[in-house]
Amino acid sequence: MPDTLTIKDNRTGKQYEIPIESGAIHATDLRQIKTSDSDFGLLSYDPAFLNTASCKSKITFVDGDAGILRYRGYPIEELAEKCTYLQVAYLLVHGELPSKSEYEQWVHNITYHTMVHENVKKFVDGFHHDAHPMGMLVSTIAALSTFYPDAKNIFDEKSRDLQIWRLIGKIPTLAAFAYRHSVGMAYIYPSNDLTYAENFLSMMYRPSWTTKYEPNKTLAKALDVLFILHADHEQNCSTNAMRTVGSSHPDPYSAAAAATAALYGPLHGGANEEVVRMLEEIGSVDKIPEIIRQVKDGKRLLMGFGHRVYKNYDPRARIIKKIADQVFEVTGRNRLLDIALELEKVALSDDYFVKRKLYPNVDFYSGLIYQAMGFPMDIFPVLFAIPRMSGWLAQWQEMLLDHEQKISRPRQIYLGYPERHVP
Ligand code: ACO
Repeated sequence: MPDTLTIKDNRTGKQYEIPIESGAIHATDLRQIKTSDSDFGLLSYDPAFLNTASCKSKITFVDGDAGILRYRGYPIEELAEKCTYLQVAYLLVHGELPSKSEYEQWVHNITYHTMVHENVKKFVDGFHHDAHPMGMLVSTIAALSTFYPDAKNIFDEKSRDLQIWRLIGKIPTLAAFAYRHSVGMAYIYPSNDLTYAENFLSMMYRPSWTTKYEPNKTLAKALDVLFILHADHEQNCSTNAMRTVGSSHPDPYSAAAAATAALYGPLHGGANEEVVRMLEEIGSVDKIPEIIRQVKDGKRLLMGFGHRVYKNYDPRARIIKKIADQVFEVTGRNRLLDIALELEKVALSDDYFVKRKLYPNVDFYSGLIYQAMGFPMDIFPVLFAIPRMSGWLAQWQEMLLDHEQKISRPRQIYLGYPERHVP
C-alpha cells in the first residue's frame, strides 16, 4: 500500500495524491489544491497547533495517551532515579549521556559560568521590591545578550557551546538574585564547590553574614530530580516560543527571554503557583465539593489538572508524588497535601474529569514540595524555568541546524473588510 493520501476536491472534481511521511502530510502539498489559477491554494487552519507538527525532533518523546515521557529515548523514570540534572541537561543538548570525562568537563564549564557581571546586580536593584521574580528573570535573561555580543554568532559551534554553558550556569544565579532582591537580602555569589541544586539553595538561603551554609542533601537531591522532570517537554508553549523567536536568528539570550515569558503564564509554568493559591483558598477538605461544582459550572479551572498532550496520568506527577514523601520527612508534612490528595480522589472519580481525561499534571504536586522547602509562591515558575533552560537550548540548537526550518511565519485566514476607502 503506498504511503499516500488521496484527496478529492468536490469544488472542482479534481483528485490529488499527497505523500505521507512519518505519519504526516506536508501542509504545503495542500497548496496545489486550487479552484483556479489565481486561487492561492488550500490552507490548513489550526489555531493553537492542535494537529500541526512544526518540526521534526529527536529530543523528547511524549505519548500522552499512554502517559510516557522519554528524553532521547530514555524513560523519565530511569533518568530521575539514576542521573543528575546536569547529566540530563548534557543528554538533551548533545544527544547522548556523557562519559565520565565528558561529564566532568561539562560540570566544570557550567560551574565556571555561574557568575554574572556586577552590573546585573544594578538592574536587579532597579526593580520594585514587590516585582514578580518571573518578570525580573525575563528581563535579566534578555539583558545578558547585551553583555555577550559574541552570542550573535549562532552558527559557530564553539560560540553556541559557550552560550549554552552560560545560560544553564547563570539562570540559577539570576533566579536567586531576583528572590533576594524581593526579600531585601544581600545577593549571594555562586559557590563552585557545590552541586548545581545545592548552589542554587545556597544562593537563595545562605545568610549573608556567613560563608558557612550546608544545603540539606535530601532537599537538594529532591530539587535536582524536580529539575530533571522539568527539563524538556517537546513542543510546549515556551519551547515553541524559543524556536519561533530563535528562527529569526537573534542571540539565544533574546530567544530564551521570550521562552521564559511564555512560561510565565498561568496556563503553562505559572500553574504550580496557581495550584497552591487554589489549595489555600479551598482551605479545608469539606470545601472541595463546592470547588468541584464551580469547575463543572465552567466558573473556574481546576489548576494543575489537564494537559494538551497527556490524556492519562502525567508520569512526572507520579514521580513528584514520591519525592513529596521524602521532602516532607525533612520539612514536615505540608498541610495542603491532604486537600490535594482528596481533590485528586474526588476529581478522578467524577464523570466531568473522567470524560474529559483530566488528570493531575506536573504542577499539581510540585508547588506543595516547593512550599514545604520554603520557596515563596512567586518563585515557583522560576523554579520551572531554571531546568527548562537546557530543554529550550537543545530545541533551539536542533532548530538552527535543521535545514528544513526557516523563519517561523504562519498564515492567516483574513475575515476583515475587503478594500474600502477613506471618505
Ligand atoms: N479544569 C476544568 N476543566 C478543564 C481543565 C481544568 N484544569 N482543563 C481542561 N478542562 C476542560 C475544558 O473546559 C474543556 O471542556 P469542554 O470540552 O467542555 O469545553 C476540556 O476540558 C478540554 O480542555 P481544553 O481547554 O480543550 O484543553 P487544552 O488542551 O486546550 O488545555 C490546559 C490544556 C491549558 C493545560 C488546560 O487543561 C488547563 O487550563 N489546565 C489548568 C492549568 C494548568 O494546570 N496548566 C499546566 C499545564 S502543564 C504545564 O504547562 C507544565
